[in-house]
Amino acid sequence: MLKGRSLIDPMDFTIEELEEIFSLADNIIENPKEYLHVAEGKILATLFYEPSTRTRFSFEAAMLRLGGQVVGFSEPNSSSVSKGETVADTIRIVSCYADITAMRHSKEGAPKIASMYSEIPVINAGDGGHQHPTQTLTDLLTIRKMKGSLSNFTIGICGDLKFGRTVHSLIKAISRYENNRLVLISPKELTIPEYIKKEILEKNNIEYVEAENLEDVIDGLDILYMTRVQRERFFNEEDYIRLKDSYILDRQKLDNAKDDMIILHPLPRVNEIDYEVDEDKRACYFIQAKFGMYVRMALIAKLLGVC
Ligand code: NCD
Repeated sequence: MLKGRSLIDPMDFTIEELEEIFSLADNIIENPKEYLHVAEGKILATLFYEPSTRTRFSFEAAMLRLGGQVVGFSEPNSSSVSKGETVADTIRIVSCYADITAMRHSKEGAPKIASMYSEIPVINAGDGGHQHPTQTLTDLLTIRKMKGSLSNFTIGICGDLKFGRTVHSLIKAISRYENNRLVLISPKELTIPEYIKKEILEKNNIEYVEAENLEDVIDGLDILYMTRVQRERFFNEEDYIRLKDSYILDRQKLDNAKDDMIILHPLPRVNEIDYEVDEDKRACYFIQAKFGMYVRMALIAKLLGVC
């Protein structure tokens, strides 16, 4: 039963519960008109303490397409946060006005704290360099749609694996499906945190290799997940400048990739995928953004208990 629950970490839902969300998303994609009124009279609050385009817009568009309404802020300085209000107090107030909330915060764990004080479901829309479970729902739905399953793949994850919260959530989630193998491609300074290696990969006996060079490994991949170097999480700008162009996927590199490999990216892209790649049939990052809205429609409908 998903009604009334919060989504803070990708492991909060079982594989069966995720399947419920994905199959509802499939139905919504097939027959969007049937869902135009299911959340009528309900309100989503979007509490965005950190910048966002896709995530906030896709949450808001999702709620509107379900017939619900939206309140919120995208700039914390325009709310009582600027007066020093705590997340715990803000969420207690928001619980009085809205039926469900999506929160993005630069501090790891803030949405979790919010869920402990909230009367309504809290959805983590990204907390610092930690987790981003709804991007993971988006990624999994896209893989399922484009490749037909979530198992038996060699998945390359490339870029900022240290600070990239979408990477951390995706690794957690994909490790639960059978027979996936990970190729983790990053500069030495931006490898995945030890806790993910120890507590997720090693504990679950997930086969993985680490690589520094994308060209060396691209030919073996079924899925290539590109990410941007997370400038806002660096302690100094010089390190960012040195590392920001570590990987640039272009047509030439793709010559060696499988014909049916798919290229994903949570977006925004900075420099890591050349614009010429957008024309390649393997580029799936824009359809991925669209699936993000549909999977959020399914998630909201399930947590509200209206579908
Ligand atoms: C991601 C994020 O916010 O972590 N963006 C998104 O939600 N699609 C990825 C990023 O900012 O690099």
